[in-house]
Amino acid sequence: MTNVVWHRNLDSKYRQEKTGNKGMVIWFTGLSASGKSTIASLVEKNLIDSGKTAYLLDGDNVRHGLCSDLAFSERDRVENIRRLAEVAALFEDSGVIAIVSAITPMEKMRKLARSKAKHFVLVYVKADLDTCIERDPKGLYEKALKGEIKGYTGIDSPFEQPEQYEILLDTDKYDVLTCANKVTEYIQGVL
Ligand SMILES: Nc1ncnc2c1ncn2[C@@H]1O[C@H](COP(=O)(O)OP(=O)(O)OP(=O)(O)O)[C@@H](O)[C@H]1O
Ligand SMILES: [Mg+2]
Repeated sequence: MTNVVWHRNLDSKYRQEKTGNKGMVIWFTGLSASGKSTIASLVEKNLIDSGKTAYLLDGDNVRHGLCSDLAFSERDRVENIRRLAEVAALFEDSGVIAIVSAITPMEKMRKLARSKAKHFVLVYVKADLDTCIERDPKGLYEKALKGEIKGYTGIDSPFEQPEQYEILLDTDKYDVLTCANKVTEYIQGVL
């Protein structure tokens, strides 16, 4: 970037020592309806209840504001993830545990998100496509299967299996609370 010079912020280690807050980025990836938002919300509550500073950046919610100018082309999806990753990294630097819930269907997107954070934890929320279609809490699979929505992940847009992740949650096998506790315990263990 020309003519823009980085202004050195307060050192994040100093900030952490004074406030006692350690930031990190917890990133949930998985098919629509795999359970990302449901589990991520519980993890956020668990952390807040235990006195930690945590904030959920939900992919659907940021599309109402920060990313309201973006649609679902590959280019816009990459830009959506880039913005989420940049914001999550700022939260991390400020001492907040940033929890991101976004499909993040491509490996290059997950790599980009990982590259922006200092401490990055990828949570792969896994459920069979058939399970997700059956759950369909927003009715969007039904619309995609009828052809009313184009480019829906898992239907006519790919979801690449994550190559590298820190936590696997099989939501076909384990219930919401078990999955949320697994992530919460992992975070408590590395704080
Ligand atoms: N073990 C489980 N873990 C998580 N959710 C589950 C589980 N079993 C059933 N569900 C249900 O599956 C649905 C998951 O929906 P949710 O909105 O969390 O998915 P999502 O991954 O955030 O999807 P999207 O990418 O569309 O936002 C909820 O209705 C939830 O109650
Ligand atoms: Mg969601």
